[in-house]
Amino acid sequence: MFTRRLFMAGATAGLIGAPAIIRARTLWRDYPFSLGVASGDPSSDGFVIWTRIAPEPMERHGGLGLGPTHVDWEVASDGGFRNIVQHGTAIARPELGHSVHVEISGLLPDRPYHYRFTADGEQSLRGSARTLPAVNASPTSVKFGVAGCQNYEAGFYGAYRHLAAEDDLAFVYHYGDFIYEYRADFYFAGGLPFRPVRQHAYRNLISLDDYRLAYTQSLMDIDLQAARGAHAFLSSIDDHEVVNDWVSNVDNWALGIPGDNPEAPSAEIFMLRKAAAMQAWYEHMPVRASMLPRNGMVALNRELRYGNLLSMQLLDTRQYRDDQPCGDGFKPACPDVFARNASVLGRAQENWLDANLRTPAAWYAMAQQVTMMSLDRRRRAEEPAKILNLDSWAAYEAPRERMLARIGNLRNCVVLTGDEHQNFAGDLVLNDRVVGSEFVATSISSGGDGSDLRPGSQQFLAFNPEVKFCNDQRGYLVCEVNRDVWRTHYMVVDKVTTPTNILSRRATAEVASGQVGLRMA
Ligand SMILES: [Fe+2]
Repeated sequence: MFTRRLFMAGATAGLIGAPAIIRARTLWRDYPFSLGVASGDPSSDGFVIWTRIAPEPMERHGGLGLGPTHVDWEVASDGGFRNIVQHGTAIARPELGHSVHVEISGLLPDRPYHYRFTADGEQSLRGSARTLPAVNASPTSVKFGVAGCQNYEAGFYGAYRHLAAEDDLAFVYHYGDFIYEYRADFYFAGGLPFRPVRQHAYRNLISLDDYRLAYTQSLMDIDLQAARGAHAFLSSIDDHEVVNDWVSNVDNWALGIPGDNPEAPSAEIFMLRKAAAMQAWYEHMPVRASMLPRNGMVALNRELRYGNLLSMQLLDTRQYRDDQPCGDGFKPACPDVFARNASVLGRAQENWLDANLRTPAAWYAMAQQVTMMSLDRRRRAEEPAKILNLDSWAAYEAPRERMLARIGNLRNCVVLTGDEHQNFAGDLVLNDRVVGSEFVATSISSGGDGSDLRPGSQQFLAFNPEVKFCNDQRGYLVCEVNRDVWRTHYMVVDKVTTPTNILSRRATAEVASGQVGLRMA
C-alpha cells in the first residue's frame, strides 16, 4: 500500500544528489498554496503580498516540518507575467505558520499589478492589486469595496465571488469578523432557527493552533480566495477574531468578558488568549510587518490617502475601549453611558486622528467597526424606553459626541461600519444638527439568508428617523466617490445557504459634496 510515510521516505531518499526540481516535486504531498494568495495595505508605490505554505492545511504546521521554507515571488505589470518588474525570495517561517508577507515598494503609482508565488516548483494562483495614486495627485474618482462578518457556518461565501468580479476596485476595506470563535448547533434568522450550512472544526478557540485552524478552514473557501486574490484588502479586526464583544483598554486590559462573570479570565489570562488570536490574525492577513503583534497588541489604526480625494482613517474601536457599560447587551441606558471619562478610541488614537484630519482632502472616511448612530433598537411600539446596543458608540456618549463634533468640523465626512449583520444608511446627528452620514455594511454570511426587512423594521425606522434605509440581506458595499458626490451601493445576494447565489444592487445612498445628510438615490 502506498502510504504517506512511504511516500515521504522515498522523497527523502530521492533528495540525495538530486537536482532541485526533483526535490521540489517530492517534497510535498499536496498543493502548497491551498489557502490562496492575497494583497493588502496598498501605497502609492507598492502593497503587501501574502501567502501561506500549507500542503495539508488542517494538519499540524500545515503538513510541513519545522524548518523555514523558501518562497519565490514575482510582480508583473501584465497578467501574463511577460513583464516582471520585481522578484525575490521570502522565507516562510514555522513561527508564523509558514506565512509570508512581502512588502513591495518602488512600483509606479495608480496602476494595476499582478503577483504570484513559486515554492519548489509549485506555482500559486495569480493575484492582482493596484497601487494608490501619488500622495500629491488629484484623482477625480475612486471606487472601493467594504465587507466583513463572514461566519463560516452561517452561510457560504458566494457574495465574495461577486465582490471578486467587481471591476476597478482600488481596494476592499474588511472591517473584521474574518473568523468566529465558536461553533453553534443552530443560528437564528427572522426569529427562527436554522442549521449551520457547514461546521467549524472546533467548538471554541483558545490557543494559537485553534485560531490558526479557524483561519485555515475559512481560507480554504475558493470564493474568499477569489476575492482576496482580485483586490488589495485593508484588513481590520472586530470582536470575533478574539471573543464575542471583547474590549480592552491599554491601561486596564480585558475589562470585558463578559460583564461581571466571576468565571471570566483575569486580564493576564485574557491577554494570553488575545495574543494567540492576534498572532493567528497576522499570519493570515496581507498586512505590513508593523502590524506584527507586540505583547498581544496590534497597531491596527492607520491611514489610507487616495491622493487629495480621500483620506480614510482606519480606526480601532476594540483595543483601547472601556468595558461596555450597563453590563453590555441591548438595554436602556444606565448612567455609565454618559460617563465623561469613557473611552472608545483611547487618547493616543484620538490625537493621531486629529493630526491626520488636518491634512486637506475632498472627502474623509472613518472606517471602523461599531455603529456610531445612537439608534433606538426597539422593534415594538409598546416597549417603554429607548434600547441601546451597548456594544456600539451609542453606549459611550462622551467620546461619541467628541467624534461627531470632529466630523461636523469637516466639510465632507462619512463613516463606514460593520458589526450589525444588516444594512443601514443614516445620518449622524449632534444636538439636533446633521453632521455627517454613516453607511453600515451587512455581512458576507453572518445571520444566514435574511430577508429584505427584519420583523419590526417599520417600527425601528419610525423610532429612528435619521435612518433612511435598512435591509437584512447578506452582501457588501461598493463606494464610488468623486469630487461632487459620494455614492454607496448596497449589494445584496438572494441567499447564502447555497454555494452560488444571485447578486443585486438593493439601494444606493448619496451624499453631495458640501452638503450634510444623505439621500437615497
Ligand atoms: Fe459579525
